[in-house]
Amino acid sequence: MTTKNDLEIGFDEFDELVRPAPAVVDFDEVAEASLSRRSFLGGGAAFGATAFVMGSTTLSATSAMAAHHGHEHSRLAFEMVKANTLDAVTVSEGYQAQVVVSWGDPLWSNAPELDMSTGGTGASQEMAFGDHCDGMSFFSHNDKDILVVNNEYTNSKTLLANREGGVPTTADDIRKSKAAHGVSVVEIEQKEGKWSVVKDSMYNRRITADTEMSITGPARGHKLMQTAADPKGEIAKGTWNNCGNGQTPWGTYLTCEENFNGYFSASDADYKISPELGRYGVNIKDRGYKWAMADDRFDLVKNPNEPNRFGYIVEIDPTNPNSMPKKRTALGRFKHENAEVTIAANGHVIVYLGDDERGEFLYRFVSKGKYTAGGDHSELLSEGTLFVAKFNENNTGEWLALTPETTGMTEAEIAIHTRMAASKVGATTMDRPEWVAANPNKVEAYCCLTNNKNRGVKTNAGGDETPAVGPNPRVKNNFGQIVRWKPMNEDHTAQSFNWDLFVMAGNPAVYDDAYAGSKNINQDNMFNSPDGLKFDSKGLLWIQTDGNYSNKDGFAGQGNNQMLVADTETGEIRRFLVGPKECEITGATWSADRKTMFIGVQHPGERGNSHWPAGGDSLPRSSVVAITRNDGAVIG
Ligand code: FEO
Ligand code: CA
Ligand code: CA
Repeated sequence: MTTKNDLEIGFDEFDELVRPAPAVVDFDEVAEASLSRRSFLGGGAAFGATAFVMGSTTLSATSAMAAHHGHEHSRLAFEMVKANTLDAVTVSEGYQAQVVVSWGDPLWSNAPELDMSTGGTGASQEMAFGDHCDGMSFFSHNDKDILVVNNEYTNSKTLLANREGGVPTTADDIRKSKAAHGVSVVEIEQKEGKWSVVKDSMYNRRITADTEMSITGPARGHKLMQTAADPKGEIAKGTWNNCGNGQTPWGTYLTCEENFNGYFSASDADYKISPELGRYGVNIKDRGYKWAMADDRFDLVKNPNEPNRFGYIVEIDPTNPNSMPKKRTALGRFKHENAEVTIAANGHVIVYLGDDERGEFLYRFVSKGKYTAGGDHSELLSEGTLFVAKFNENNTGEWLALTPETTGMTEAEIAIHTRMAASKVGATTMDRPEWVAANPNKVEAYCCLTNNKNRGVKTNAGGDETPAVGPNPRVKNNFGQIVRWKPMNEDHTAQSFNWDLFVMAGNPAVYDDAYAGSKNINQDNMFNSPDGLKFDSKGLLWIQTDGNYSNKDGFAGQGNNQMLVADTETGEIRRFLVGPKECEITGATWSADRKTMFIGVQHPGERGNSHWPAGGDSLPRSSVVAITRNDGAVIG
């Protein structure tokens, strides 16, 4: 564990290294704008009171910024867990946490258990649960319980435990790496309170970087989608870097391709990256995966269009293991975080989508067709209109349609080069939009803006400026915030909305300015970098973090990454769970009876300092964890 490996660089840092040289915006100007926003924070200036002079669609007077910390009538009926740096999952008293499935666990009885000394082989990984679990959904089907889980990327030093520094060396290393990515579909069952995998279930399935998928929507067949292996541009192979997810009311799973760029490289050092590929961070050097070593698809010289076939939402039917996943190009191509599906009052399907990169955008898809219970929903996501959000400083905002008229691009080009289309219409550059969550009990939605050290410092990769204003008010924003919006007329298809900040994360133990966070943050519940976000059936909002776990300097007292619960009516936030060392907490779903909550512990020990979950000197393993109450009551 000594050799320096490109894979140790975070995705965001990798993209910083490869992105085109940015223009520097006027720092004084943005700093001034940020300072003027301090009235939003703390002190006696309640955000809801000062910022809103609006009519009937004004956000609730119980805006978070007016939240009180006393909570005699709190809906958060559990004791706050203290921040800690233990190598363990810590849950609130009265709850228990149990590992359901870990990276490398075989899904079939003829596959071997994980070999900890090597990290397994290509063949064993193809029959085992993938690495780095992320977004997930629980499905009930024919009295069976099916868990579908994204496997976002890999810990090279554990996956390739037999290679110096975790550097892939052989073709089988690449086969193993490709098989550790993608999606795992597993039947699970609960016996005597304990959840486990049902080996050999007819539903068990591994979807990997080599699984064939149908390209649907405007980009299908376009010349930018055509490759040597697929001259028609209709069938793509595989999915990877599957981050957040979505679940449709018609029983399908949506997996979201995020940092797809870092897997491509060029065999010719003089290969010129096009501006279009550059906008997405594709570079002549990959992030250390070395897939081009064993598969020409990943060599830009041989297959310059291959990257255009990734960065989409993929729809999967978990009840049919033989079904071909469908890439939904109508939902745009960018570094997709999650896909939050809700049905508007008028029946159109809404999918809210974040593009997680510094200074990129927040999107909304509105289907052309309508959802009707029992109808045919197989192609609802193949046709519709994509919109991008523009936030005004006066707490209003609008959804800007991306159409040939507004962008001068064809529908296929909009689907493939979505970031450029959004830049053309003047969308608001955001502080890395991660998960969006729509309130099941109210017409409103929330989005984690995880952090953005470049806010007010430099432009995004497309040259769009990033002034510290509106929902992104802090220069060099290392803590993140959660923005929420309320569609006009309680209509998710409306063109305009009102917005406010539900919370600004920060550290009130270290700062007394904007970086202390909003009024609903205190020294007991503070955190940084909100990422995963999900409402439960009661309308409580679960917040998961993927942030700085150094527990030092500006992050002192915040401990390991964690999960908190918020009451969006009062603004109250309490920490419910703390993860093991060097992990992030990501992905959330509930059993049909709502008595179990499943979450993901991703990349424990990403820097080599964890042995969770097995302890001793074992390899750390990303795992799905089931949380239940000791009294067996519902948990959300
Ligand atoms: Fe995979 Fe934006 O987190
Ligand atoms: Ca994430
Ligand atoms: Ca993140």
